Amino acid sequence: MNPFVGKVLLYKLQNHAEEYGISHLRGEIMQLVKWDESLALGVEPFDDHHRHLVGLLNETYDLLIAGEKPSCMEEVIDELIDYATYHFSAEELWMVKLCYPKREEHKKQHEEFSSRVVAFQRELILNGGTSTVEVLGFLQRWLVEHIKGSDGEYSRFMHCGAN
Ligand SMILES: [Fe+2]
Ligand SMILES: [Fe+2]
Repeated sequence: MNPFVGKVLLYKLQNHAEEYGISHLRGEIMQLVKWDESLALGVEPFDDHHRHLVGLLNETYDLLIAGEKPSCMEEVIDELIDYATYHFSAEELWMVKLCYPKREEHKKQHEEFSSRVVAFQRELILNGGTSTVEVLGFLQRWLVEHIKGSDGEYSRFMHCGAN
């Protein structure tokens, strides 16, 4: 247990939950991202990929809640980076095959996520992760909005031939 991280986390959950987009977590310990049907696109294997990404973010959050040291969280962040890279490459390749018109802007969004996770990992190593809650809040919002928004658009393009 790391009491410092625990206190910082509690303070942020109690006082800045709206600001960090994590108000659903205040007052209770629950999953950072809850998987539900609104996140399902009906496109395999990408739905499975998204479920796995959600799982990795939740795992990171669980370690934080448990007060684990940043060094323990590095492993799961490494996996998040590797898996996000794999998933984004698979989507981008698929969009090329599909001649999806918005593939370039979609790719830029992926790059933004990847660079934020890499920065998060660096921050954990250098500063011990004092801004972990903010970063996790950002990653959670990004993932949910991206899946429902931009990934949802390619799903509609695939299913209907338009977006
Ligand atoms: Fe995706
Ligand atoms: Fe995507």
